[in-house]
Amino acid sequence: MYINLNTYLIDGMLSEWTGEFQEVVSYITPTPDTEAQVIGKYPLLDEEAALSVLDSSLKAYDLGLGQWPTMHPLKRCEKVSHFVQLMKGKRDEVAHILMAEIGKTKTDAYSEFDRTVEYIEATVDFYRSKMQKLSQPSKKGGITAKIMSAPRGIALCMGPYNYPLNETLTIIIPALLTGNVVIFKPPRIGVLLHAPILEAFAEAFPAGVVNTVFGEGQKVITPIMQSGKVDVMAFIGSAKVADAIRNQHPFPHRLHAILGLEAKNPAIIMEDADLEVASNECLGGALSFNGQRCTALKNIFVPRSKADEFVQLLAHKVDQLKLGAPQEDGVKLTPLPEMSRVEYLQELVNDAVAKGARVVNQNYGVKGGTYYFPAVLFPVPIEARIAHEEQFGPVIPVMIYDDLSEVINFVTHSHYGQQASIFTQNKETVNKMIDTLSHQVSRININSQCQRGPDNLPFTGRKDSAQGVLSIREALRAFSLPLVVAGKTNELNEALICS
Ligand code: G3H
Repeated sequence: MYINLNTYLIDGMLSEWTGEFQEVVSYITPTPDTEAQVIGKYPLLDEEAALSVLDSSLKAYDLGLGQWPTMHPLKRCEKVSHFVQLMKGKRDEVAHILMAEIGKTKTDAYSEFDRTVEYIEATVDFYRSKMQKLSQPSKKGGITAKIMSAPRGIALCMGPYNYPLNETLTIIIPALLTGNVVIFKPPRIGVLLHAPILEAFAEAFPAGVVNTVFGEGQKVITPIMQSGKVDVMAFIGSAKVADAIRNQHPFPHRLHAILGLEAKNPAIIMEDADLEVASNECLGGALSFNGQRCTALKNIFVPRSKADEFVQLLAHKVDQLKLGAPQEDGVKLTPLPEMSRVEYLQELVNDAVAKGARVVNQNYGVKGGTYYFPAVLFPVPIEARIAHEEQFGPVIPVMIYDDLSEVINFVTHSHYGQQASIFTQNKETVNKMIDTLSHQVSRININSQCQRGPDNLPFTGRKDSAQGVLSIREALRAFSLPLVVAGKTNELNEALICS
């Protein structure tokens, strides 16, 4: 495979780039012994090109008077539906690049594509039906009013490498439907898979409504942010990068931010938990896509009385998983996209071992290249780095507790607050844990692993884990602002406002 991405989307056209390029080296090799391979290249835009992209967006938005922000919402729905029809034709192409570029298994790659299509279609349906319903005017305090909504303006959308298609489009599409103009930048790893759908963007939307920037953030994002012209920034990735980008805006009060950040979701196993269920959910929760999910279970707490039994079950299940190339049948674990990930995970394992933990599963280890068989670490002391750092990879720390207050203390003092999983068969325990955790996390999963979906549910986090809420309904809200049309209640105004 070689993807020659030598264009970027500007002014509604795929403009050829003649400057520098980034070679894409893939560590997702067919076997552990195969050398990493070059699978394509993409443009490294410079500051001048990035500012032309911004100009294209500003022209399309035209201070809110452009064709797109003033287009009837139902017409915008038609354009997005056209886009998704065109995108559907690229299913195989995109799925294959997802496998080669970031290492999603075949099943996960197709599922990311299909889930994205479903999300877009559901968002269009929801928005269309909302726009078709006449909003009921309110009459209160002598004022008659109706509430409409308006776009925020220029939206800069940046998705993460682990869901480069899904989490990019699930922010772009609601931004577009609500009348914003979009500039999007794919993550550093996970650029090539966008190549097949660039034409669909160009064909479905008016000139300048969707634009891309490729390249180093400092060269392409910095000048765009420093211009002060971005109205909304949607970013999924680390808090450090989010803050660095946001702080470049000269008028931060004008910038609305929608952020999906790091997490360290705990699994809390109670004395009465069904250990078979708990170990299965922890397995999937910790290792789906090699643990490279913000929603992955990243710390497991188990009571001392159940610790040995649980850890044995978990370690055994981990050792049964097949590590292989994404295209192979039955593969559950795949190579990691970067060598530095392997080095980082090794650092975490070595640190935990030096502080008293053991690797308790047999098959653990680096098998060659970035083929990394997971480690189950037990018992992990609270001082270990992995107890606090987001591993974002296939290392599972299991910690022992004697009293539940130790776990609660850990969770309440954590910087992260996305989700938690609790394992128990007791209703009273569930109620107590909901009371305790409701101020710490945004979703409490009962006898189930953490996850984002289904996409009708609000997806957010507390503390350093998120800002703003995403879901089919909430994302539309996040990219728009309410507009109130109001007047003193009298016959004339009522006729003017309400009809
Ligand atoms: O990486 C974070 C994703 O939003 C997780 O989504 O729980 O559906 O895998 P997921």
